[in-house]
Amino acid sequence: MKLPTILLSLAALTACAAFVPVPAMSATDAVDAKPYTVKGGKVDMGTYKGYLYYGDQCMRCHGPDGLGSSYAPNLTDSLKSMDKEQMQNTVINGRKDVNTASQKVMPAFGTNEDVVENLDNIYAYLKARSDGVLGRGHPEHLEP
Ligand code: HEC
Repeated sequence: MKLPTILLSLAALTACAAFVPVPAMSATDAVDAKPYTVKGGKVDMGTYKGYLYYGDQCMRCHGPDGLGSSYAPNLTDSLKSMDKEQMQNTVINGRKDVNTASQKVMPAFGTNEDVVENLDNIYAYLKARSDGVLGRGHPEHLEP
């Protein structure tokens, strides 16, 4: 082997060593059924996508950070009593508030692929906000 080749191999070995996976979950994490992971203010990729799709599809009515607006309810409150299935049914099928003079409509997202494919992620993001473990604003994500 010529010297540059040896150096290259060494570099490759070192690079590999840097990627040796560290066990990410402890036994207590494994039994924890939360739909999100928040560590040091950083979120797992699913929750991060949920944040992005929330901003893209829901925020214009439900306000920044899920906190509601004069038009649509605060979803961090809603998820304190609504379970995942109820929330997702509402998003898929929509809802119309027929009791108010001004008609407020939650559109049906059942044919919106971005939303349907990311329902779990949007739920995870809103649940983390609702549980008070994730602050306002754009979160950073943990390494995928
Ligand atoms: C065009 C405005 C609009 C958009 C966009 C919108 N919503 Fe809504 N949403 C509403 C309104 C208005 C209500 C309240 C309807 C009612 O009172 O019956 C509502 C209600 C809800 C509820 C039920 C809350 C409760 O406490 O009962 C959930 C859950 C919800 N929206 C989730 C979402 C999600 C997730 C998205 C994005 C994928 C989204 N919404 C996008 C307007 C909107």
